[in-house]
Amino acid sequence: MRAYDIILKKRNGEKLSKEEIYFFVHGFTRGEIPDYQMAAFLMAVYFQGMDDEEVADLTMAMVESGDKVDLSAISGIKVDKHSTGGVGDKTTLVLAPLVAAVGVPVAKMSGRGLGHTGGTLDKLESIAGFNVALSPEEFIKQVNDIGIAVIGQTAKLAPADGKMYALRDVTATVDSLPLIASSIMSKKIAGGADAIVLDVKTGSGAFMKDLEGSIQLAQAMVKIGERVGRETIAVISEMGEPLGFAVGNSLEVKEAIATLKGEGPEDLTELCLTLGGYMVFLARKADTFETGKEMLKEALQSGKAFAKLKEFVKSQGGNVHQIDDPALLPKAQAISQIKAEKEGFVIEVDALKVGLGAMYLGAGRAKKEDKIDHSVGIVLRKKVGDKVLRGDVLAELHYNDEKKLEDAQKIVFAAFKIDSRPPQKAPFIKAVVTSKGVEKYV
Ligand code: URA
Repeated sequence: MRAYDIILKKRNGEKLSKEEIYFFVHGFTRGEIPDYQMAAFLMAVYFQGMDDEEVADLTMAMVESGDKVDLSAISGIKVDKHSTGGVGDKTTLVLAPLVAAVGVPVAKMSGRGLGHTGGTLDKLESIAGFNVALSPEEFIKQVNDIGIAVIGQTAKLAPADGKMYALRDVTATVDSLPLIASSIMSKKIAGGADAIVLDVKTGSGAFMKDLEGSIQLAQAMVKIGERVGRETIAVISEMGEPLGFAVGNSLEVKEAIATLKGEGPEDLTELCLTLGGYMVFLARKADTFETGKEMLKEALQSGKAFAKLKEFVKSQGGNVHQIDDPALLPKAQAISQIKAEKEGFVIEVDALKVGLGAMYLGAGRAKKEDKIDHSVGIVLRKKVGDKVLRGDVLAELHYNDEKKLEDAQKIVFAAFKIDSRPPQKAPFIKAVVTSKGVEKYV
């Protein structure tokens, strides 16, 4: 077999065999196939696409390019959740303790933020002492002891994906459906998931800007799950505006704490109950999605979910006083307000612009090596549909460095669009994709 022939075959729109895909992916991972041939292969896939069987083979080739996490020492069905990434997306901080509180084992690996999107590990590290680097043994033991652990993903997991992603980033081949779907699913499967719930975002702050594209991505991932024996359900939700009100690490932890006490924003609460309902159902802790959702509502109201968060933070070395009193979390030195210049209704809060604004303040990284400031970020005071008067506060910028403020102020101000007429109310959850089909709510 030769790499050249495989590139040529794909370039000409022919279907690749499992052997050809494995040969290419594993040869590349071992360094035997050079970057330039992989780059050409990725571009051929970008233009010619792949059928369902090829995408599943590509996924498993990436899974088998490195270590697989063995979660068999944890009893029960391990359901993992993955978000395609958004702004103000603190879902894992809420969802993980919430489902753990009703007996779904959570053995989760998370990532760091890059660009305008944040990462769960950075958010957790706003809590003093929180350790995301447990050994594999500590990780399994903690899940068996308290039902939940969240750690950083190791480079040994699906290494082909890491190497391929780096090339995609510089060859304009990131936004290819088969490549995104296989990349995401390979990491979940290598991470030991028995079943998967996908949190697919749609809108300006998301990978996929339109609903149809998001549904296609969700369908591609659900089909991979079906082919490789991991039941997969995808929930598609709005990311035109940020999720909740807070964007930035410790500000998001604060909002997650409020949500686990049943006092969170409506959109975040709805998303967590929906994703969680499916997780409880797939873990076979409830007979239906609806029952799963009811169990989670009860866990929020009874205080069980909040208690689980404290147990989780304590077990990973974090300062529980900061959970009891979020005012003790890292706090920026100053707050600057963005005000409305006219009266009307907010018709848009562009998530991408708000995410970039938070990054300019230091909450996110422009490059992987950048250091982040856990205390800074943005709190929205108005969201889409809200009525505003001239001079009303639209957002607060929590900052430490005057020099970083001006660019952030400009872009956050530009994120808001105000009109004399109210916007049409659209449902926050747009669609659910399962192996049975697509249920649309719009
Ligand atoms: N997230 C991933 O993990 N991979 C992609 O290709 C895109 C988003």
